[in-house]
Amino acid sequence: MNFGFKHIPYWVALLMTSTMMACGGGQLPEAGTPDVDLYLKKCTACHSWPHPARHTKEEWDHYLALMEWHMEKKEIPFSAEEKQVIKGYLYRNAR
Ligand code: HEC
Repeated sequence: MNFGFKHIPYWVALLMTSTMMACGGGQLPEAGTPDVDLYLKKCTACHSWPHPARHTKEEWDHYLALMEWHMEKKEIPFSAEEKQVIKGYLYRNAR
């Protein structure tokens, strides 16, 4: 007996999975903007994204310097421009 469940096109499953992943719980402020895209691209290589409201501006300064060092060690490129954009995003939404 075949109820047809096998006939859900694989791309429907794929679409659902990628939509869920792109939302990531949907808790990030400014989600969907280029700044957040960059933040997700650059800051999830080694761990999941920390929420911007988790730290104050001063703490973000400290962490960004630390992360720059981590990225250098792993040879992940992190340009001054990218750092500026991410810093601006974190500052706007800091604790
Ligand atoms: C090359 C790997 C790497 C990348 C890329 C990276 N981090 Fe990290 N991050 C780490 C490691 C390793 C730790 C653990 C703490 C430590 O030893 O410094 C950490 C810890 C943290 C912490 C402290 C713990 C916490 O969750 O509060 C914050 C905040 C953080 N990272 C933010 C960022 C941000 C923002 C970016 C993007 C600019 C980023 N990280 C990109 C490696 C990375």
